[in-house]
Amino acid sequence: RVMRDIMGINTLERQLQERMGIRKVIVVPGDSDRSPWVKSELGRATANCMRDLLQSKNIIAVTGGSTMAAVADMLTPDFGEKDLLFVPARGGIGEDVKNQANTICAIMADNTNSRNRVFYVPDQVSTEVYKSFIKEPLIYEVWNLVKSASMVLHGIGDAITMAERRNTSPEDLHKILDGKAVGEAFGYYFNEAGEIVHKVLTIGLQLDDLENVGDVVAVAGGESKAKAIRAYMKQAPSSTILITDEGAAKQLLQG
Ligand code: BG6
Repeated sequence: RVMRDIMGINTLERQLQERMGIRKVIVVPGDSDRSPWVKSELGRATANCMRDLLQSKNIIAVTGGSTMAAVADMLTPDFGEKDLLFVPARGGIGEDVKNQANTICAIMADNTNSRNRVFYVPDQVSTEVYKSFIKEPLIYEVWNLVKSASMVLHGIGDAITMAERRNTSPEDLHKILDGKAVGEAFGYYFNEAGEIVHKVLTIGLQLDDLENVGDVVAVAGGESKAKAIRAYMKQAPSSTILITDEGAAKQLLQG
């Protein structure tokens, strides 16, 4: 704690929390763009934060991404003393397997001796597929679990990085570029003003659903994600807790 004061981390946290008007900001030292171990520290800080927040019974909805994978690695069996169920926040087959929410939920459940459910839905579907998928009883069942989540854990991505990682169609890419998107979360793309310029159609949690979730934990770090974080935070529910690193935090305060 003393170290954190000397490094000015506590001040960074306070300033950011005030500026973004959210519930809490936690900053870990370093920059995950430069040092890969800082991503593990983001994972560790998130695990500690979850430990403080979790009640006896929880449904935890989780998105994909390498940051969420780092969180999964830091969860331990003592979490399993609580009744936890991990569910993917949205359909997400399409990313690299290790970065898919299904995989991450399975690892989280494994590491905590808890349960998980799988969402067998691609991360982008056509309107026709969407309409028929939600009629599938198994998919509908998981969807209802997601909607009753008491905690959401999610990553935030740079818009162009995510558009490329997702094999976005040329038309959608056009929309994302034309709309000058800088950030992405839950399949929504945001411009610098925090306006939604594109939304990937998939089954699962929608941005509006977050208003009904008690604990929303956003985890994203690295100087290169500062713009994305700033943009998304303009839309984020005020109940959001942001866990980030010094690299992103310092850049965020400059804009
Ligand atoms: C994806 C999520 O899986 O991960 C995105 O669908 C998120 O919403 C992204 O922005 C973050 O990825 P990373 O690897 O930067 O943590």
